Amino acid sequence: MRTSYVWIPLLIAAIAVPLGFYYVDWSKSGEGAGLYSRDWSPEAIFAYWNPDEFYKSVESVVGEFSGEQCVECHQAVTPGVVNDWRKSGHSKPANNQAVVYCSDCHGNNHEDLHLPTPDVCGTCHNVQHDQFTDEKRYGFPSHSLALERAMDAKHFADKPKAEVTACVQCHSVASKCDSCHTRHVFSAAEARRPEACITCHSGPPHPDDETYFHSKHGQLYLAEGENWDWSKPLSKGNYPAPTCAYCHMDNGKHQVADKAIWKFGLKQVNPLTSGNQIRRKQWVELCGDCHEKDWSAEQLRQLDAERKLSWSKLYEAEAVLKDLRSEKLMQPSAKQRPPYPGDSPDAFLQYQRIGFFEGQASAFYNVSPIERDYFEMWYFDNLKSYKGAAHGDASFVDEGQAAMDASLETIKRNAERLRSAGEGKLDKDTEGNIWLEGEYTEYNRDHN
Ligand code: HEC
Ligand code: HEC
Ligand code: HEC
Ligand code: HEC
Ligand code: HEC
Ligand code: HEC
Ligand code: HEC
Ligand code: HEC
Repeated sequence: MRTSYVWIPLLIAAIAVPLGFYYVDWSKSGEGAGLYSRDWSPEAIFAYWNPDEFYKSVESVVGEFSGEQCVECHQAVTPGVVNDWRKSGHSKPANNQAVVYCSDCHGNNHEDLHLPTPDVCGTCHNVQHDQFTDEKRYGFPSHSLALERAMDAKHFADKPKAEVTACVQCHSVASKCDSCHTRHVFSAAEARRPEACITCHSGPPHPDDETYFHSKHGQLYLAEGENWDWSKPLSKGNYPAPTCAYCHMDNGKHQVADKAIWKFGLKQVNPLTSGNQIRRKQWVELCGDCHEKDWSAEQLRQLDAERKLSWSKLYEAEAVLKDLRSEKLMQPSAKQRPPYPGDSPDAFLQYQRIGFFEGQASAFYNVSPIERDYFEMWYFDNLKSYKGAAHGDASFVDEGQAAMDASLETIKRNAERLRSAGEGKLDKDTEGNIWLEGEYTEYNRDHN
């Protein structure tokens, strides 16, 4: 008798699994792209940042043309493009290789042009292409997964378009080999310099620009970089001080994720797992191009110490918030906020956002003020200190730690205020649904 019950979960699984696949498929079939494609529509400019999903050829010029014809007409139409192309290795390749014309990357038919994604470049540069796509197996963050990462963020689908267009610009690194060697010169020398990275790697949650240029390495680059020979590959002996790519793409390897231990800095990590020890060894090896190894290992242990300290402060703040949550003192409560796309106010899983939920690192804009204080501490102060320690900028470590201390104090003080205001006053239903409606929420629903 009993054994027959075994079929019930199996039957449920047999129905649920295909339904799950069907749902994911359905959710991706909207006007936008990714998991929330049904909740937003693309801006015209997205065609250039995510051509696979959105690019449609211009049709104003009709005909098929040879490479020389493209160059000739475009000398008048877009002279800058042609002049850059003439400077590039593509217009004058070494060793009698064939010239790489406009048509090799964009196609011959002007009504069916395409914008070259890594796959197109990969037809000739398979080494770089394969390294770039292989990066996916290291998980997030990664250049080759960057685009889906941004578009699958709930707040990307939920915020006003003008606010999130920039996400796609930076995260387009996944679909554009011209992120680091800009079109149409496509120079390796350009990509070796730190400027190639800082268009995206700067600003509060990832101050790589700021911390690198404060460091000795960055200062040496500023003082002497113009005299270095940038035609040389990024390997031992060729450069007196490292640039971003020297450290993160050593020996020209086209991926940035294989050595990452602390990654974005948003999660506590154990740096002593065997996998992380191997990564650390690779780092020490790399510093060893110019420094003594024990000295380098010691520098990197300072980074671990900084992380430990930061996490002790973050956990303390989380504990305060968790207490408030269990006392039902966080207002508006999760149920009273405008839900993110794919959520509903009645959903079973609805929680106050404390810490790293579902990878939606920056989905903290519709929360209670005290959660927002925590967010500032976790996302900005913590990451400021992290990148200071990772890149050798002591001033950012100091400032990040001081800001975390101040935030922690504010969080504790406000928790006490909420408590003394009393549970009765902040009863779950007294605030009603003011957050569920309103101009911002409705405007976004209509305009995404
Ligand atoms: C007779 C002149 C002429 C020739 C030949 C020509 N183009 Fe163009 N091309 C244009 C003009 C004009 C535009 C701008 C069209 C527009 O904005 O509607 C353009 C636009 C483009 C664009 C930009 C498309 C976009 O969506 O932004 C690309 C890429 C391009 N051409 C590539 C090529 C390639 C590759 C060839 C050769 C196969 C070629 N062109 C031959 C005149 C020409
Ligand atoms: C090695 C490949 C390659 C070659 C060769 C090449 N392009 Fe491009 N082109 C690109 C890439 C990559 C982009 C950026 C696509 C994107 O934004 O997604 C681009 C974009 C463009 C654009 C639109 C953006 C802009 O800056 O205006 C035009 C126009 C264009 N190319 C014309 C040309 C012409 C004309 C030639 C020949 C002189 C040429 N391309 C040769 C790779 C190439
Ligand atoms: C049809 C083949 C072909 C395609 C497609 C192609 N390339 Fe190239 N690429 C070449 C050749 C050939 C050279 C010159 C190599 C040499 O001189 O030894 C080159 C050189 C380069 C260099 C080195 C330049 C330097 O400064 O040393 C870079 C970077 C580059 N290509 C990037 C790209 C990117 C990015 C794309 C796609 C947008 C692309 N290539 C598409 C064939 C191609
Ligand atoms: C066009 C924008 C852009 C440029 C240019 C760019 N990156 Fe990135 N980079 C990103 C984005 C976006 C991510 C995060 C992707 C994600 O969400 O998974 C990232 C992630 C990274 C990571 C994190 C990897 C990890 O596993 O933690 C490193 C390291 C990195 N980039 C280094 C560089 C270096 C070095 C350069 C210059 C040679 C560079 N990037 C140029 C946009 C860019
Ligand atoms: C100035 C360029 C830039 C802009 C604009 C930008 N990002 Fe990023 N983003 C990055 C970089 C660089 C990283 C990786 C930083 C690191 O690893 O230290 C990153 C990391 C992320 C991550 C974390 C990846 C992970 O695996 O945890 C997510 C998610 C993300 N971005 C989504 C977004 C969304 C959504 C937006 C728009 C609201 C956005 N980004 C705007 C450059 C940018
Ligand atoms: C994150 C920045 C970045 C991105 C994105 C990027 N490159 Fe590069 N690329 C570099 C750097 C840095 C070098 C110089 C490497 C060295 O010095 O050894 C380089 C060099 C090259 C070279 C010249 C190699 C040589 O030995 O001369 C080629 C070809 C190339 N890249 C192709 C590509 C292709 C194809 C893509 C897209 C799949 C791509 N790159 C995307 C940073 C980048
Ligand atoms: C001296 C080598 C060095 C230089 C130069 C350097 N970094 Fe880093 N970077 C590191 C180290 C070490 C870490 C921490 C790695 C870890 O433990 O995860 C790090 C962390 C990062 C991270 C977080 C992801 C990760 O891999 O852990 C990003 C993104 C990043 N650096 C980007 C940059 C950019 C952009 C530049 C140039 C403006 C730059 N770095 C210059 C050594 C360097
Ligand atoms: C390409 C050479 C090169 C590489 C690789 C390199 N450095 Fe440096 N670094 C230098 C030079 C040159 C200086 C300035 C001279 C000095 O202080 O030793 C310096 C200075 C420093 C300083 C400041 C030293 C002080 O006493 O104030 C620190 C910290 C540092 N490096 C850490 C690292 C770490 C950690 C790595 C590996 C992740 C690394 N470096 C990789 C060349 C390099």
